[in-house]
Amino acid sequence: MTIKAQKFFTHRATTLLISFFAALAPLFYYASRSSAHVFLDTALFAGFSQVVFWLMMINAVLAMTVAAMRWRVSAFQTDSPKWLAALSCAAFAFTAFFAVVNIAILCVMGEESSPIVWRSMAELLPFALAYLIAALLAFFFPSVTDRRVRTAIAVIIILIAVLAILFMLYPPVYFDFLSDPMVIDNGEGYSVVFATSAAGTGYIEYEYGGERYKLYDESSGRIRGSSTIHSIVVPYEHLNNNTYRVGSMRVFEEYAYGGRNGRSIVSQDYVFTPCSKEDITLLCVSDWHTRNNKAKEAISHLGEYDAVLMMGDAAPGLQYESEAAEYIVKFGGDISRGSMPIIYTRGNHETRGKYASELSVALKMDKYYYETSFGDYRFIVLDSAEDKEDSHPEYGGLADYENYRARMTEWLEGLDATGQRTIALCHAPSLFIEEDLTARAWAKLEDLNSSLLISGHLHQCYLDRENEAFPVYVDGGHSGGDYIASLVTLSPSGIGLKACNMNGEEILSEWVEWRA
Ligand SMILES: [Fe+2]
Repeated sequence: MTIKAQKFFTHRATTLLISFFAALAPLFYYASRSSAHVFLDTALFAGFSQVVFWLMMINAVLAMTVAAMRWRVSAFQTDSPKWLAALSCAAFAFTAFFAVVNIAILCVMGEESSPIVWRSMAELLPFALAYLIAALLAFFFPSVTDRRVRTAIAVIIILIAVLAILFMLYPPVYFDFLSDPMVIDNGEGYSVVFATSAAGTGYIEYEYGGERYKLYDESSGRIRGSSTIHSIVVPYEHLNNNTYRVGSMRVFEEYAYGGRNGRSIVSQDYVFTPCSKEDITLLCVSDWHTRNNKAKEAISHLGEYDAVLMMGDAAPGLQYESEAAEYIVKFGGDISRGSMPIIYTRGNHETRGKYASELSVALKMDKYYYETSFGDYRFIVLDSAEDKEDSHPEYGGLADYENYRARMTEWLEGLDATGQRTIALCHAPSLFIEEDLTARAWAKLEDLNSSLLISGHLHQCYLDRENEAFPVYVDGGHSGGDYIASLVTLSPSGIGLKACNMNGEEILSEWVEWRA
């Protein structure tokens, strides 16, 4: 190593910068690996990613040790020992390599997963700060001899601690509604769902039959106060052609004795109109995968509609409540404006992540397979759940969808024909991954006189008239930076399908007859 390089690698600023980036590497890596949908190979799920994480941690300790030694000015005032320069050079090389690994992950995950990585980083922030402060105290503080620098470091640490306590007690988030509510037809009534920017209570107010109702989002009498998503089940007849409003009170903390609350908010009045006409127009959206705005741009070219079919795949997965709030509840509220029913079909990406099992509680949906009717039109909603076998390493041993689909098929086989014009909905156009269950489901849907299956999942837009049982419509969704949304018009004479992209260009226009 030349003298110049030796001086560079043992310069105080160089060692400090290397240790800063070396410390950041495992934090970012953990956030991206634990939350993003990057699926490089199954080895990552078999422990290789943990090995990389621990190598990053070891490198962080190495870089900090080198920096701490260099900052011991009394020991190295006049020269730059070769061994220290060599250690610093090694830390630099490893840090650069890990930076490339992290940048590669960032590039592979793209726009879809990066917001989730930032959410994960935000969740890790308190731990990250504690980790950096501990490192500062352990590695650098003992080496700082200047009294003024020591005082400055102590003041900064005290300030961070005070701010952390303040933010913990009063999170710096303005409390408001994220959007209009979404009203999900869950097959037995309406789930009125809305989200707020911070945790709080949720309620709905309306008048029906001369009585004033105020119904809370509660569980066996206890009002739920720790969620940002609020949902209340209302009987169909209470909401149809009625006016309602929703409200929330911020809850900072819930105690066994008492609690600490914040501001209360009340929405505007919403007029809710059910779908009971002979001719109805449904907006169909699928696979928006966090692209709320792109989907809304495509929708803006389609014209008016009476109800919404949300066909699933809102985000890569549901790690956090805030993802469900933004990509399901806010999106659903924005496109339905709280004034029309939504039929929600779960996508396979809503079955992933630690919040996935909470979603049905948040949306007040007992299950994701059900039937409902808009006037004389019957909808049978199926849930394809995941598109790979339960043992696939992507699911981390937490999938039991084969049994779930078997129960759903039994439920489907128990339905009776009603003589209504019938449409089936399922996220995956091929229904389930089990051949026997899928064959039974197609047969029963045919028995029930279904005329069309509406689906998504493939990120392509087409009508398959060759399907053995009856035609299958695959809604477009997000693909290649564009988004395709559809209108489905139902009338006694048939089913109209029209799809357009974000530029308003017509992608598809088809007509399907009702089966006799
Ligand atoms: Fe999908």
